[in-house]
Amino acid sequence: MTLREFRANDLPFVGAIVAEALHEHYDPSLYSSLSTEWPTGFLVAADASDVPVGFLLGVNQVEGEARVLMFAVDRNQRTQGIGTLLMTTFLERCRERHFRRVTLEVRVSNATAIRFYTRYQFSVVDLLRSYYSDGENGYQMARDLR
Ligand SMILES: CC(C)(COP(=O)(O)OP(=O)(O)OC[C@H]1O[C@@H](n2cnc3c(N)ncnc32)[C@H](O)[C@@H]1OP(=O)(O)O)[C@@H](O)C(=O)NCCC(=O)NCCS
Repeated sequence: MTLREFRANDLPFVGAIVAEALHEHYDPSLYSSLSTEWPTGFLVAADASDVPVGFLLGVNQVEGEARVLMFAVDRNQRTQGIGTLLMTTFLERCRERHFRRVTLEVRVSNATAIRFYTRYQFSVVDLLRSYYSDGENGYQMARDLR
């Protein structure tokens, strides 16, 4: 498994992971423009054939803060440490940029992700009512960086 920055030819693979894992479809131009804004904040985990099997897309919209906009690993490749590799590397990238805080949003029903984030010292800071397009509530979670 290698970690690298997002490339344009990753789009079909990343789009497929997002569709399956997050049940969302975004215009491909979104990934390209966000990767241009902060290339090292868009991390891709690729297999031996350089095919993406997971990714973490971080953005920097607030001064001194990173936000995890999307984070997913291919269903067949989970619980092998790929998510951990993506998250720990992302937190290093954030420290390199001297960010003070990292935030994210998660569905209240997504117990697996909430447990994962809690392991990385994220905690719930807000309840986001009807945050998702299907009406489900979200939690905003955040952690400080030292
Ligand atoms: C959240 C997500 C990205 C985690 O990715 P992952 O690759 O499975 O993450 P890891 O393998 O590093 O860790 C997952 C669990 O497997 C365990 N694990 C890791 N490596 C392991 C191994 N070799 N053997 C056994 N268990 C292992 C970890 O301890 C962890 O357990 P915990 O979360 O109960 O503490 C993944 O579940 C996912 O894509 N979910 C769907 C999309 C989603 O919900 N994204 C978040 C939206 S906000």
